[in-house]
Amino acid sequence: MGFIKEIARRRTFGIVSHPDAGKTTLTEKLLLFGGAIQEAGAVKSNKIKKGATSDFMEIERQRGISVATSVLAFEYNNIKINILDTPGHKDFAEDTFRTLTAVDSVIVVIDVAKGVEEQTEKLVEVCRMRSIPIIVFINKLDREGKDAFDLLDEIELKLGLKVSPLSFPIGMGYDFKGIYNLWEKNLNLFTGDPRKDIEETIEISDLNSEELTTLIGEDAANQLREDIDLVEGIYPEFNTKDYLEGNLQPVFFGSALNNFGVRELLDCFIEIAPKPRPKQSEERLVHPNEQKFTGFVFKIHANMDPNHRDRLAFIKIVSGEFKRNTPYLHVRLNKKLKFSSPNAFFAEKKQIVDVSYPGDIVGLHDTGNFKIGDTLTEGEIINYKGIPSFSPEHFRYINNADPLKSKQLYKGIDQLMDEGVAQLFTLDLNGRKVIGTVGALQYEVIQYRLEHEYGAKCSYENLSVHKACWIDPEDEKNEEFEEFKRVKQRYLAKDKQEQLVFLADSAFSLQMTQQKYPSIKFHFSSEFN
Ligand code: G4P
Repeated sequence: MGFIKEIARRRTFGIVSHPDAGKTTLTEKLLLFGGAIQEAGAVKSNKIKKGATSDFMEIERQRGISVATSVLAFEYNNIKINILDTPGHKDFAEDTFRTLTAVDSVIVVIDVAKGVEEQTEKLVEVCRMRSIPIIVFINKLDREGKDAFDLLDEIELKLGLKVSPLSFPIGMGYDFKGIYNLWEKNLNLFTGDPRKDIEETIEISDLNSEELTTLIGEDAANQLREDIDLVEGIYPEFNTKDYLEGNLQPVFFGSALNNFGVRELLDCFIEIAPKPRPKQSEERLVHPNEQKFTGFVFKIHANMDPNHRDRLAFIKIVSGEFKRNTPYLHVRLNKKLKFSSPNAFFAEKKQIVDVSYPGDIVGLHDTGNFKIGDTLTEGEIINYKGIPSFSPEHFRYINNADPLKSKQLYKGIDQLMDEGVAQLFTLDLNGRKVIGTVGALQYEVIQYRLEHEYGAKCSYENLSVHKACWIDPEDEKNEEFEEFKRVKQRYLAKDKQEQLVFLADSAFSLQMTQQKYPSIKFHFSSEFN
């Protein structure tokens, strides 16, 4: 198959949801359709169970699972599907944000009973900012939940989406009879049998036909006719262009656990979801069909064995073919590197591959050359944009608890930050180091890993910071900026990229500072150019 055809048949996406909405279950059913796994229960949940904060074995176990499930690839109807795993646990939200830079589209899973939950709001906001095409899957229709129209309203309101239902439920919970598929114009009756791979599908071209009444009963048939009338009256008709531009989001209903509504989702997905998309670099827009290889690191995973400190860097291929044993330019280090055993991912297995195409993810063994966001090319100077840091939620000073091991400590901190475990800030005033994280769990992970992988000991000290803001002065030389730096020195720090950051100690002081220095912009993410 030619290069262009290989690209056209790839779909790389992520499934995002609040924990427990059914992401793992849906992933598993998709893999079953692709024949990538043979039985349910084969995909391990990548969840950090509640109460795991002090259980380090659990953390290690989870790290193992998350390597295995980082990329799940399979073929369906000659389409190569790459699912990128996104941790649902909120302490790992940063990891999910980064993974979203490597997907071409997402499926958002929502629990019909719980509706739109906090984590979903945050993740969808990031997708909207990047105009990532979104499909919504409303799950667990076999249970009692919210009214379908109320839920669609809630999705529009809380997630800021413009929905276009492509399927609609008939009843719910105990009375769940099935789904009318507006996309294919057919009816799927719910049998509640999860072992069925394909449900019974009945073509219904005319909803007013007697056949519908015979199949689901008069009440349900009338209700469905009314519902579909309403759906067609109030929601915009689906069109692929608006979906691809991130302006319209198709919605499907189903029950992942019962394997119901999943085939419809998958069939529609492979038809409408985008092939690998062009990506903006600082220098220019790079198109997947370009002959020369480019790609970027969006995730780094440390080796599970502490005696071997090599890591696996996950590269998304943006353009050209990535070939084994070929020297590529590591742009940040200005150094040529060759990879003898690039890993591709198939379902849950890793395999060495000779050639990979745009849309694919390869895992490269790394001994410390890579940082998140690094670009590889055939020689051109390209720096991919779009792996921003967001303001952490927690801040603590990190202290060296074993003076004889300070070299190990700093090396460990450096490498863990490159992996994206947390963010490091160095205070301007005294050079003290502050670790910022999204969740408290990361502090324990860092302490544990510093000790077990680097032989270093650390302690923490609380620091009261409300938000980290990246500073963007209108003019670096003006009087106002000089005064700001002088007056606020105590609150200023540099991030790992040497960008200036203001650590505001309260919402009030941030507001006052913003008012006092109007020519300075305060950004909540490191990427604002
Ligand atoms: P997550 O990855 O989004 O966190 O969710 P996961 O798939 O692990 O699903 C969370 C729980 O919801 C699981 O139950 C799962 O079986 C259940 N679930 C998923 N889809 C459906 C559905 O369509 N209908 C119903 N009724 N339940 C569904 P659990 O008891 O937490 O775990 P398990 O012991 O079943 O694995």
